[in-house]
Amino acid sequence: MSVFISGASSGIGEACARSFAAAHHNLVLVARREDRLKKLSQELRDQFGVQVTYFSLDVRDRIKLERLAQLHADVFQDVDILINNAGLARGRDVIQKGLPEDWDVVIDTNLKGLLYVTRTFLPGMIQKRRGHIVNIGSVAGHWVYQNGNVYCASKFGVRALSEALRYDLHGSGIRVTEISPGMVKTEFSHVRFDGDQEKADAIYAGRTPLNPEDIAESVLWCVQRPAHVNIQEIIIFPTEQPGVQPITPKLD
Ligand SMILES: NC(=O)c1ccc[n+]([C@@H]2O[C@H](COP(=O)([O-])OP(=O)(O)OC[C@H]3O[C@@H](n4cnc5c(N)ncnc54)[C@H](OP(=O)(O)O)[C@@H]3O)[C@@H](O)[C@H]2O)c1
Repeated sequence: MSVFISGASSGIGEACARSFAAAHHNLVLVARREDRLKKLSQELRDQFGVQVTYFSLDVRDRIKLERLAQLHADVFQDVDILINNAGLARGRDVIQKGLPEDWDVVIDTNLKGLLYVTRTFLPGMIQKRRGHIVNIGSVAGHWVYQNGNVYCASKFGVRALSEALRYDLHGSGIRVTEISPGMVKTEFSHVRFDGDQEKADAIYAGRTPLNPEDIAESVLWCVQRPAHVNIQEIIIFPTEQPGVQPITPKLD
């Protein structure tokens, strides 16, 4: 029995890997940056004595994913818990100035990548009549914020797919949970602003965001509920973020 985590090379995915390893789960980690996965895997094996397998994978690459699942069927068949975390935003322009190549990356990763990975594990989970899929959505999947357009659309899509999966898998015993975080301090903004650290830092200026560990704790808690309990969704904001809209300075 092991836990598959996409996007485990950084942020929320890496924190999930640490939390689940600490709870004695074996892990299968994927992301594109193999060097980071290698280092994290060794650290978790040494620290917690768990088995950790990692693969360099772009979740948009359906052919490579299928090949990995075939070549490493024993590893893939052992997965009971899937954490669909790999995701990103690119840019923060209005649609009329947005770059279609950025839209492709966001939609292909956040939606199609999640679908490809999920589809890979469903037959095995259905056969075993056991499994838990945790999708990392976003508050951007509940409310659109200014200039959030395509990223929000992708996360609205993740929410739709989480709901759809619960219907499609009805009777299988497989649970589907969505965790929808507000602002979390990770590499997310650095990636969104194409490496512009000043712009990324400005997002968190003057307030305390969530840590990736705050989200990982919730993911673990959902998975640890008894089999007849499915936490369908958790929305988690930092205390200092009342909603998705930008906030003006506090009134006296
Ligand atoms: N940070 C926030 O404020 C926030 C809020 C709500 C929701 N979220 C969601 O939380 C999830 C994790 O983001 P994060 O905040 O932890 O950001 P992060 O630190 O940038 O981590 C993103 C992870 O996704 C991986 N990834 C991106 N594209 C990928 C691809 N095509 N194939 C495989 N892996 C890919 C990255 O690994 P590689 O680059 O090595 O591939 C990285 O491990 C995302 O779905 C994001 O939308 C974040």
